[in-house]
Amino acid sequence: SDTITILGIETSCDETAAAVLRRHGDGTTEILSNIIHTQDDHAAFGGVVPEIAARAHVEKADQVVARALAEAGMTDDGIGGGIDAVAATAGPGLIGGVMVGMMTAKAFALSRAIPFIPVNHLEGHALSARLTENCPFPYLLLLVSGGHTQLLRVDGVGQYARLGTTIDDAAGEAFDKTAKLLGLGQPGGPKVQAAAEGGDAARFTFPRPLLNRPGYDFSFSGLKTAVRLAAEELSPLGGSDIADICASFQHAAARHLAARTERAMADFDIPAGDSGRLVIAGGVAANTQIRAALTALVEAQGWSLLVPPAKYCTDNAAMIALAGAERLAAGSVPALAETLALAPRA
Ligand code: KG4
Ligand code: ZN
Repeated sequence: SDTITILGIETSCDETAAAVLRRHGDGTTEILSNIIHTQDDHAAFGGVVPEIAARAHVEKADQVVARALAEAGMTDDGIGGGIDAVAATAGPGLIGGVMVGMMTAKAFALSRAIPFIPVNHLEGHALSARLTENCPFPYLLLLVSGGHTQLLRVDGVGQYARLGTTIDDAAGEAFDKTAKLLGLGQPGGPKVQAAAEGGDAARFTFPRPLLNRPGYDFSFSGLKTAVRLAAEELSPLGGSDIADICASFQHAAARHLAARTERAMADFDIPAGDSGRLVIAGGVAANTQIRAALTALVEAQGWSLLVPPAKYCTDNAAMIALAGAERLAAGSVPALAETLALAPRA
């Protein structure tokens, strides 16, 4: 039949994740399991330490895969267990972790004589809205994560045109650095969001990056500097200072993302008879204030907004499984997959 059941593995940062996804011939999908182990080994270092992450992935990968298979009702009997293919993040990411995920996936594929599909992490995020919603192509994608801030036009699986990107820091990086500066802990995005609740977003007038610059690029380093200067000026921070700084920063970040997205929407070529769709993905898309700013924008323009649930915005293996399944269904599986598929069964 045309149904594919695929195991996805994601290990590019500090999440060891595995998921089982089933894709039917008509393109609909079901997430059968979605296991995410977030490493807690980095807390003392104020950021993810690549070497520690790689070792922690080695320790957890097999368990996480076993849990994903068990939860999906796949009997891991060594001859396939109902899994037709396996996909893993092949980059970009921390190389040690990526290698652990790739080796785990390749070994799984080789021992079962099923295809192995390397997936670009950003492609996983790019397709993540399609995990839970009917989201036809084309769409405008705002990809906002810890390492990337991009606007892309998505015309299909493997058809991505980058319209703009950050010229300095990524949006998530700006949240993480703000949190670090204010002593809020990591990951910074959720900490800043929580600290901003009840804060006064109008207290500080932070800059509006690239306000009059054409195009769709982003910049966050000026905002970061403005936050640092505000904090230094008030030091020692007291009372509601932290809440007010966080609220003002979050407001400025949301306004900048919305302003650049609005430009890209205005220039987006919508096929006749269709209407505009904006998808936001990546960890920063979990932010409620940013969602609210983009919701207001699409409503004003008569577009629709598609945002994955927060657990599919941050790093997860379901999105990697989906990207792998879509590539397999489209027949665009690289030569290595064919090679592994031809290996004799153990
Ligand atoms: O996509 P992701 O999980 O990993 C990368 O591929 O980078 O994104 C992680 C980033 C971190 O910078 C984190 O602080 C940010 O997403 N993030 C948030 C929120 N939740 C996670 N940023 C703002 N608000 C949030 N609620
Ligand atoms: Zn990511």
